[in-house]
Amino acid sequence: MSATAIALQPYVKLDDAECEARIVAAREQLGDRVVILGHHYQREEVFRHADYSGDSLKLSRLAASSNAEFIVFCGVHFMAEVADILSRPDQVSILPDMAAGCSMADMANLAKVERAWRELSEVLDPDEQITPVTYINSAADLKAFCGRHGGIVCTSTNARHVLEWAFGRREKVLFFPDQHLGRNTGYGMGIPLEEMVEWDFDQPMGGLTPEQIRKARIILWKGFCSVHQMFRPEHIDAFRAKYPEGKVISHPECSFEVCRKSDYVGSTEYIIRTIAESAPGTRWLVGTELNLVNRLHERHKAEGKQVHFMSPMVCMCSTMFRIDPQHLAWTLENLVEGQVVNRIQVPEAEAEQARIALERMLEVSP
Ligand code: 13P
Ligand code: SF4
Repeated sequence: MSATAIALQPYVKLDDAECEARIVAAREQLGDRVVILGHHYQREEVFRHADYSGDSLKLSRLAASSNAEFIVFCGVHFMAEVADILSRPDQVSILPDMAAGCSMADMANLAKVERAWRELSEVLDPDEQITPVTYINSAADLKAFCGRHGGIVCTSTNARHVLEWAFGRREKVLFFPDQHLGRNTGYGMGIPLEEMVEWDFDQPMGGLTPEQIRKARIILWKGFCSVHQMFRPEHIDAFRAKYPEGKVISHPECSFEVCRKSDYVGSTEYIIRTIAESAPGTRWLVGTELNLVNRLHERHKAEGKQVHFMSPMVCMCSTMFRIDPQHLAWTLENLVEGQVVNRIQVPEAEAEQARIALERMLEVSP
């Protein structure tokens, strides 16, 4: 065991092949003391080292049920926070690169959400009339906000179940930070577009009139995912013109127009399953992150399935991409030396309230 952590700098210069060998060797030494969780958007050189892969919901369940001493999260910051909140206090959650954030999660913060709550209270009684629902793509303090205000967390897999739960308690929902997941899910439940208003967090009163707020069923935070907003309805039109028999599948973080034009809409886990279960020879246009789409293309080409990426531009999640073999090797070799680097630790008071909102979600999830 070394007294101080091994520095990152020398690892940055290692090539991927060298990292690969060192990751495998470190994992062998650590055995079941470590579990590596990998989100579907991870690059191949990292993804192949994951003991378990999944979407946000599946990975939170895996984190909650893991026995490993160290949970190395190959994903983004909010996911490692959820792993810390749901795991036992003696387990350690690690994010190999601290710069792996989520630009959508950053579009909401506690000060702005608390301001929205205060402003809404000028028109109605939020704690009686509004259930706050945060997408799992959000910081732990926002999950804690939901925990203490009778709210809940959702993922793209369970958003409908969560909204049904929310409406079972109060008449309205404040949904943050992703307007698209909120709108697409609400519309799928039969809520008309005019009853879903956009809360512009840079405007006083969200840019809304008291009348608009009173009439709304869902108040949608004006956040979005910069990756999924790249997909456009024109991309679907061009695909359909060329391949009329082709099928279109999109993630619900895509715009309303893209989701309306798609044959199927669902989380990354749903997209993977739907393509896997389709008939040999099916052609797909997929609106989600490039690393996953490339993997699906490789996985299914032998069955004659054609998997196309929706945008003509390369749109990867640049923060997911921050997790590279160099950071993973550095993290694991430090663990071998008895050093924890890049620990993600949510303060217990905050974790306790966030856990309430997460556990509500896990209870209502299919
Ligand atoms: P999933 O829950 O579908 O994995 O989505 C997470 C995410 O960040 C998609 O951009
Ligand atoms: Fe966040 Fe979008 Fe990346 Fe998902 S794809 S982690 S929502 S920036």
